[in-house]
Amino acid sequence: MSLGKVEQLEWDIARLTQDTPIHSFDCGKDDLNKFLKNDAKKYLNDLFAVTYVLQTNTETIAYFSLSNDRIARIDVSKTEWNRLSRSVANNKRKKSHPAVKIGRLAVNKKSAQVGFGRIIVFYVKKLYAETLQTAGCRFITVDAYAEVTDFYEKNGFKFMTETDKDEETRAMYFDLKTI
Ligand SMILES: CC(C)(COP(=O)(O)OP(=O)(O)OC[C@H]1O[C@@H](n2cnc3c(N)ncnc32)[C@H](O)[C@@H]1OP(=O)(O)O)[C@@H](O)C(=O)NCCC(=O)NCCS
Repeated sequence: MSLGKVEQLEWDIARLTQDTPIHSFDCGKDDLNKFLKNDAKKYLNDLFAVTYVLQTNTETIAYFSLSNDRIARIDVSKTEWNRLSRSVANNKRKKSHPAVKIGRLAVNKKSAQVGFGRIIVFYVKKLYAETLQTAGCRFITVDAYAEVTDFYEKNGFKFMTETDKDEETRAMYFDLKTI
């Protein structure tokens, strides 16, 4: 895989504000394109999700949005719950663990498959494992489209349960203690 594009472009990751310019963006999925264009600033204003954009001066390369979440006992298979609770003190008494959800993640088609998705997932892991621990957060969660679960598995995510294996999206998680 060539990382040429990632290295050549001068990009940064910025937290979206009401003034952030959004350039034309097409990741191949209409709902994700529309979210960035129409909804990301409303979600920010309503305190439902914070969006981050990976951009150059002229191009929006990728974006992702984050919201607080939890992994609840009832959402996870027994085996997986035991695995993810193993190192949590008093885990028997806990019915859920704190998490942050990647609500949306999308890379512009022009810039796909060169490493930006991986960079974003790494950025979120570092952000929550180190920088943003202002409130406890142990896991990253995502409802991954079935066709991209391989991408998340390659980035260390696990399935929460097998009960959603024939559904359009699958619940996955990453344990921040493993980095
Ligand atoms: C899925 C997506 C975010 C991946 O981002 P990307 O920048 O193209 O991915 P990367 O170049 O960082 O790829 C990292 C690895 O994941 C793999 N991968 C990338 N897209 C994949 C996909 N759709 N399915 C399976 N594996 C994928 C790559 O082959 C690469 O594997 P390697 O390390 O063995 O070479 C991006 O293609 C996208 O925006 N797709 C459309 C929107 C979408 O489905 N978002 C997910 C919402 S849950």
